Amino acid sequence: MSAYTSRIGTTVEGCSFSRIYFVLEPGEKVSPGELVKVEVNRDIYVICRVLEAKVVSEYDKPSRVYTRRILRLEANPSDVAPGRFVLVEAETIEELRREENDWKVTNVSSLVAAGSPVYRLGDLAKLLLGFPPEDRGLHIGELWTGTTSGSCPVTLDPNEVLPRHVLIVGTTGTGKSYALGVLAEELSKLGIRHIHVDVHGEFLTAAKELGGKIMVPGDDLTIRLSSLSELELIELIPGLTELQSEIVRRAFLELKKAGGDFTVDDLVDEIERVAPLFRARNDTVLNAKARAALLNRVRIIGRGVDWKSLLDKPTFIDIDCRYLIHSELQALTAALARELLELLRDESVRKRLRGVVLSIDEAHLFLPPRGREFAPSASVLGEVIRFGRHYGLCLVLITQSPMDIDRRVIRTTNTRLIFAIEPDQLEALRGVFADAPAEVIRNLPKLERGVCLLTGSRETVRHAVLLRIRRRKTTHGGETPKLIENKGDEM
Ligand SMILES: Nc1ncnc2c1ncn2[C@@H]1O[C@H](COP(=O)(O)OP(=O)(O)OP(=O)(O)O)[C@@H](O)[C@H]1O
Ligand SMILES: [Mg+2]
Repeated sequence: MSAYTSRIGTTVEGCSFSRIYFVLEPGEKVSPGELVKVEVNRDIYVICRVLEAKVVSEYDKPSRVYTRRILRLEANPSDVAPGRFVLVEAETIEELRREENDWKVTNVSSLVAAGSPVYRLGDLAKLLLGFPPEDRGLHIGELWTGTTSGSCPVTLDPNEVLPRHVLIVGTTGTGKSYALGVLAEELSKLGIRHIHVDVHGEFLTAAKELGGKIMVPGDDLTIRLSSLSELELIELIPGLTELQSEIVRRAFLELKKAGGDFTVDDLVDEIERVAPLFRARNDTVLNAKARAALLNRVRIIGRGVDWKSLLDKPTFIDIDCRYLIHSELQALTAALARELLELLRDESVRKRLRGVVLSIDEAHLFLPPRGREFAPSASVLGEVIRFGRHYGLCLVLITQSPMDIDRRVIRTTNTRLIFAIEPDQLEALRGVFADAPAEVIRNLPKLERGVCLLTGSRETVRHAVLLRIRRRKTTHGGETPKLIENKGDEM
């Protein structure tokens, strides 16, 4: 592995174990968050992250600028004048030491002398960040430097990253769904099973291109009544009085206790059977039965599907949820998570499938903060977040509003892609920035589309870095429609 790329700077006095200062070579550029390496000697490099840069100019002290202005002797700012340079401040992260021709990552123990050369990090980033080789990892993009293209590929280790769950956040239109598309391509490449709850129908074309399957709730995808929790069930039956919901709930729980599958008609019969326990009037019971019977009209409830055979071969399954109403979407997602957990609890199935990725767009609809509005799906998804790792059920949550998601969920996800986000949403993300410096966090609202902060832990992404998502190979279905034609656009 070559340790050298082009030299971009030279250190100056004042470097310490934690801070490095260097003067940038004329014509070079750096940006906050960029990783660079400082050569201590041929076998030792100190790795640093750029924090800030400032222009220093001996000739542009306030009094001189003022005098030149008065005398109309203004200097051209693009002139390379002696005494005018860019001074960069960087924080040290780790040290790379060559031992018997192998590079080892260690804590910083070398002091950098003034005059040491500074280089872009290049390929050594893979070693520093703990990335696996591209063909065995999820290649989702390149390290973003803001200046150089073709920098180090960013590859995530599926065995470490996926079971610990992934969070993708950012303001609308910043590139979250696009990034999920890249992830879907990579999962498909590695033969990892993936199911997407497609709220906007953005992956219909990509699913076809990946040789996957599109399932339409109420058509070729239904959920079993027994897969619902009693709260999810009650949400699907409008207009129940308090007593009627008590009766329906009891009937439902009795059927669940008995085990096995049951139909809406079984539920109606059971309501009749348990009603005397509540000493309810006849018309109350009749109404409860009539309303419960309306479940026959809820198109997503039915015989269920056989996930075991659907997932027999590695595949991408896109669930087209465009036409579901909110309560159906909630019930479907919760039941889906429950059915997958149930499937993966069986050790032989688990060994065969080797895990399933479940991605959910608009995750704030399903996992609101505790004590705020109620979402029936929150409890089972919380269970997947906490225990899914043991069963190989991996969640990828996408949201534009982390403020509207349970804080504990945000913290439990271990790998995060944070796109440009409104300053008022930053607070909700506190605790997930890993070792990203304040300068980079402050700059998050200004990140360009398709660039995000990638953070993780020692097992996943060792240091917070800026990442440019790679180009999609499949079609992105979330194009923003143009309200007016631009000049030159085809009519
Ligand atoms: N990495 C990228 N490279 C090129 N184009 C991109 C990239 N990311 C996003 N885009 C473009 O930006 C637009 C919006 O991206 P995307 O649909 O991913 O936004 P989003 O963050 O999911 O927004 P929303 O929250 O509204 O769903 C798309 O039209 C897409 O083509
Ligand atoms: Mg989107």
